Amino acid sequence: MKLAIFGVTGRMGLAIARLAQAAGDVQIVGGVCADEDPALGRDIGELAGLGSLGVVTTADTASGLLGADVVIDFSVASAVTGLLALAARQKVAVVSGTTNLDDAAKKALDKAAQSVPVLWSPNMSLGVQVLAELVEQAVRRLGPGFDVEMTEIHHKKKVDAPSGTAKRLADAARAARPELREVHGRSGDVGARKDDEMAVYGLRGGDVIGDHTVYLFGQGERLELVHRASSRDLFAHGALVAARFLVGKSPQRYTIADVLG
Ligand SMILES: NC(=O)c1ccc[n+]([C@@H]2O[C@H](COP(=O)([O-])OP(=O)(O)OC[C@H]3O[C@@H](n4cnc5c(N)ncnc54)[C@H](OP(=O)(O)O)[C@@H]3O)[C@@H](O)[C@H]2O)c1
Repeated sequence: MKLAIFGVTGRMGLAIARLAQAAGDVQIVGGVCADEDPALGRDIGELAGLGSLGVVTTADTASGLLGADVVIDFSVASAVTGLLALAARQKVAVVSGTTNLDDAAKKALDKAAQSVPVLWSPNMSLGVQVLAELVEQAVRRLGPGFDVEMTEIHHKKKVDAPSGTAKRLADAARAARPELREVHGRSGDVGARKDDEMAVYGLRGGDVIGDHTVYLFGQGERLELVHRASSRDLFAHGALVAARFLVGKSPQRYTIADVLG
């Protein structure tokens, strides 16, 4: 598999480079970073602590995608629409894990999927996919007599909130109870909790990779469904599995559930 990495100098981008190189059957052919990145023009292998790979970072997305079967994107939301347009034009499949996409970027995912296979997921882990299925089932089975709330915890450098995974888990809860309305802060004289509220709170600190807890509060009991990521490699591994899955597939949108089969 010939792989390009978009956002290659970031935490996830470098984790992808390391795992891709360790896989043995993946060739990194390009890596794109931001214009103003101090690592622009540097060897990707050296940045990832792998020794020289002979492939340097570029801010020119078109040349970064040259020769790639698939691009893995973990960057910033504002860069994703441009990447998708070029990947579609150059017939490069796209795996994107970038979160906090706006409506234009979400539409761009659909548009690109008319030309190339596209998989976007706010969480590439197998465990979170199953957690979302469990959340939907628990909310449906326990019904409106249980109050649904959730917390997400991430490292202090994370720039968006709530996390993409929390939004996905909120969607899973709403698949069972469409009336649930997200609440993102309670402060002051807010009154008693309303039945259709579903608080989604973000905590930030230290180097936490990603914890998500969904609470279902009943009378005299509560259920907590928890996922804790202990290594960033978890997401990088999932993205590489997804990238392999996309190569040779027909143009359309895919999900992690498709990858799991
Ligand atoms: N789906 C999942 O499983 C999953 C898991 C972890 C993280 N994420 C998401 O993935 C994204 C990246 O996370 P991270 O922790 O790796 O963040 P990060 O360390 O900040 O990396 C983001 C990288 O993207 C680069 N970038 C910015 N603008 C760019 C552009 N126009 N073209 C190319 N690269 C550009 C940044 O460069 P500069 O630093 O020079 O701006 C940085 O190197 C976030 O949205 C995060 O929420 C998703």
